[in-house]
Amino acid sequence: MTIGEVVLLTGASGWLASRVADALLKDPLTPNAFLIVTDIAKPRLEADNVIAVQADLTDNDQIDSLFTTAYGVPDTVYCMHGIMSRGSEDNFDLGLKVNVDSVRSLLETTRKHGNLKGKSIKFIFTSGLAVYGGPLPPIVEPDTSPTPQSAYGTSKLISELLINEYTRRGFIDGRILRLPTVIVRPGQPAAATSAFLSAIIREPLKGEVAICPIGNSFDSPQTELKTWVASSKSILQNLIIAKHIPASKFTPHTRVVCLPGFTTTVREMLEALRQVSGPEALRRVVFRDDETDRRIVRSWPEKADNSYALSLGFVKDEGGMVPVVRRFKDDVQAGLA
Ligand SMILES: NC(=O)c1ccc[n+]([C@@H]2O[C@H](COP(=O)([O-])OP(=O)(O)OC[C@H]3O[C@@H](n4cnc5c(N)ncnc54)[C@H](O)[C@@H]3O)[C@@H](O)[C@H]2O)c1
Repeated sequence: MTIGEVVLLTGASGWLASRVADALLKDPLTPNAFLIVTDIAKPRLEADNVIAVQADLTDNDQIDSLFTTAYGVPDTVYCMHGIMSRGSEDNFDLGLKVNVDSVRSLLETTRKHGNLKGKSIKFIFTSGLAVYGGPLPPIVEPDTSPTPQSAYGTSKLISELLINEYTRRGFIDGRILRLPTVIVRPGQPAAATSAFLSAIIREPLKGEVAICPIGNSFDSPQTELKTWVASSKSILQNLIIAKHIPASKFTPHTRVVCLPGFTTTVREMLEALRQVSGPEALRRVVFRDDETDRRIVRSWPEKADNSYALSLGFVKDEGGMVPVVRRFKDDVQAGLA
């Protein structure tokens, strides 16, 4: 067997990384991909060119074993495992252990094996808007200072700094992607404050009731709350594009890129739901205004400047919320969500 390009994906039982694995197997620019997929919950992906490893990445030996499989040292690492926002807030110690300590160990192991092989391994990291907090300008620019206000955001920022430093030293070839809130997430709600942004679309399309913690009715002023989102379609495209961007294209002093997104409001999301699935679907949204949730959502960026990401070749959603809801409805009808 001739081994082609080897990609290691962590968090591979999670929502996004499991889809990145599928997308890589179909990527025409990675025609001979061999994947090592790993997660603390056994990844279900099975194929001739896939090795699935159940591993707890807080254990250094288990990390090291991912670099010594039959496929050898990976050419690219997608670091996507983690404890999400609400989970990190509720369990500070576990959040730091997984979101910082295990990322640092993975970086060290990537550096060591890259060094032994004389190559600079690509290290793609999924960060997020949670690195921002406190008073923000109307548009987040590449030079907007990240001042996280959560354990999750702080751990993402620490990892970003390490990845930039490892890259500056030539230990790895880092690519740090700050994702907008990704919608519409299928399955069960995630342990994230943003989970309702998917739930208010997903549950009604599945004929179920969803709680909207913003406002007391569709028309209440609170539903004008703005938020910065991207569809799972564009995010998956961009996660693959990230691997193909030549290192020389990034700005010299940082590998951080805010992936393209668009501004929507809770009301626009619900209006899109009504347009795509009618008033009956909207009636399945039950409003239960929650001051805390509203404060947290208000602390997130409403808009970021897409121009740097687009100049690198990343793509953005077109047409706002309606196509996003329509695609999800198609997925529900096809039994995929
Ligand atoms: N979904 C979003 O809107 C969004 C936004 C910004 C950033 N991100 C980032 O994208 C990445 C993927 O997000 P997702 O929504 O698919 O998350 P997810 O919660 O679905 O997946 C995370 C995975 O990490 C695994 N994991 C947790 N602890 C582990 C450990 N000790 N060892 C090994 N694996 C462990 C979990 O089992 C899970 O399968 C994460 O890094 C997340 O921070 C997501």
